[in-house]
Amino acid sequence: MIKKIGLLTSGGDSPGMNACIRAVVRTAVYNNIEVIGFLKGYEGLIDNVFVELKRESVSGIIQKGGTILKTARSERFWKEEGRMQAAKNLEKNNVDGLVIIGGDGSFQGAIELSKLIAIPIVGCAGTIDNDLVGTDFTIGYDTAINTVIDALDKIRDTADSHDRVFVIEVMGKDAGLIALRTAIASGAEALLVPELKNDSASLISKMKQWRSTKSSKIIVVAEGDQSGGAFKVAETITTNYPEFDVRVSILGHIQRGGNPTCMERVNASLVGFNAVKALMNGHKNEMIGIINKQVAYTPFAKAVKHNLKLNKDLEELIEILSS
Ligand code: F6P
Repeated sequence: MIKKIGLLTSGGDSPGMNACIRAVVRTAVYNNIEVIGFLKGYEGLIDNVFVELKRESVSGIIQKGGTILKTARSERFWKEEGRMQAAKNLEKNNVDGLVIIGGDGSFQGAIELSKLIAIPIVGCAGTIDNDLVGTDFTIGYDTAINTVIDALDKIRDTADSHDRVFVIEVMGKDAGLIALRTAIASGAEALLVPELKNDSASLISKMKQWRSTKSSKIIVVAEGDQSGGAFKVAETITTNYPEFDVRVSILGHIQRGGNPTCMERVNASLVGFNAVKALMNGHKNEMIGIINKQVAYTPFAKAVKHNLKLNKDLEELIEILSS
């Protein structure tokens, strides 16, 4: 019987985390379950810093980016001493279920924590990178890709006016999923992602045909691509084709902020609601996701095993559309 839930957000923040927090709290309150929110992710769990979350505590947050619970990438939690302290605090506070909203590092942490406690843990996939197994869209991804295409459309205006080549770096330290969709949606001429073997050398050979056309070109590069980042790519282009007027733009943390999209808010709410239901129904050590509009439960150990494979259709699509 679940009477009290602990809740935290961990790792990089993502738009929609607040909508998820709101859904967890309101679903719990509706079912007469108390909620305490630990601040700054695992740091708050180690230091026992938390706030009680009532129905009103989560008013007016569904539209806000970031996380009202704050977040952190906790170094201390990777040491056994930190985890032991976190486990003790959960027991001390009589928490009988824990909801973690975060990405792959946060769920690796959850796996370690679950070895020390009997309390069930469930996760809500929150990261802009979309690099978790067991959900179509992680919380934050839809908003982030919309932020990116807004930026790419604007860059296209200036690129067109000057007939320039732009190399744009987007987030995704381990995955090119932000890059892939935004390259398709913005009509980019080239894409460099860790999942594909289209490295700088193949880009340079593809660029040969661009010499005859005087028009703007956009190359989207994922942060984690083996080419070494946008500046490196731009340098290689300039060395090979000094005639191109090349500019670089690194979109950076702008991708993590902003008001969540409508789809994001609904998706995050559904995930939060299902996380509480999962605890009530005896689930543990699983990530809650949505696949084909249905709730899906994936063991943490599998959720963190993102493989470097792209959707074949999308891969072929970008190849054809950018040729
Ligand atoms: O949350 C994941 C992510 O957005 C990555 O794509 C990026 O590399 C990283 O966060 C940046 O994290 P930080 O803000 O901690 O430097």
